Amino acid sequence: MKVLGISGSMRKDGNTAQLIRYILAKVQVEGIETEFVSLADKDIKPCTGCERCKETKWCVIEGDDWGDIANRMLEAEVVVIGSPTYYYDINGQLKNLIDRTYSFYHDRKLAGRNAVAVTVCADRGCERSLETIEGFLNTHQYSYLGHVCGKAYMPGEIMTDERAVKKANAVAAKIINLLQPHD
Ligand SMILES: Cc1cc2nc3c(=O)[nH]c(=O)nc-3n(C[C@H](O)[C@H](O)[C@H](O)COP(=O)(O)O)c2cc1C
Repeated sequence: MKVLGISGSMRKDGNTAQLIRYILAKVQVEGIETEFVSLADKDIKPCTGCERCKETKWCVIEGDDWGDIANRMLEAEVVVIGSPTYYYDINGQLKNLIDRTYSFYHDRKLAGRNAVAVTVCADRGCERSLETIEGFLNTHQYSYLGHVCGKAYMPGEIMTDERAVKKANAVAAKIINLLQPHD
């Protein structure tokens, strides 16, 4: 699969999910394969810091949804990863997913892939959410295609944020330019 969208929000059809799906839809009409994953209904346990993944190169925690999403991340050429802003940072569910990708860090399994970061806040704090996602992407040596920071409170309000929609169009164009075969 080429472009994977991951929304960390526990609102399945919230603002983060809508913004990511908007980007995916723009990409998909150009014939590029996309997939969307919401973490809203997923069980993702936190990293325990056991460091056993240094040997196993895969998170040793079993019995939750992390492995399935991790496999999709490994298959994706581009990841569009987003979070709502909770207390000026990303939400816990996305952080759990990210922390356990430490198991991929040891042999740089995600290096060289491409990424877009998406954050949404009602008023303040988007910048730090973005920094957290960028920290994850930089550590794994993703190639960065850009970001979208939107302002919205209730689900769906994000589509009235004209600046965010404009940025979403711009990052979609970057993904299309990257993946569409050129003559
Ligand atoms: C626990 C919690 C903490 C929040 N913290 C912030 C915050 O620090 N700054 C802010 O502007 N909005 C904050 N919000 C509002 C959300 O970021 C906002 O509603 C956003 O649109 C949610 O995105 P979603 O629909 O994708 O979940 C918070 C909301 C919740 C539930």
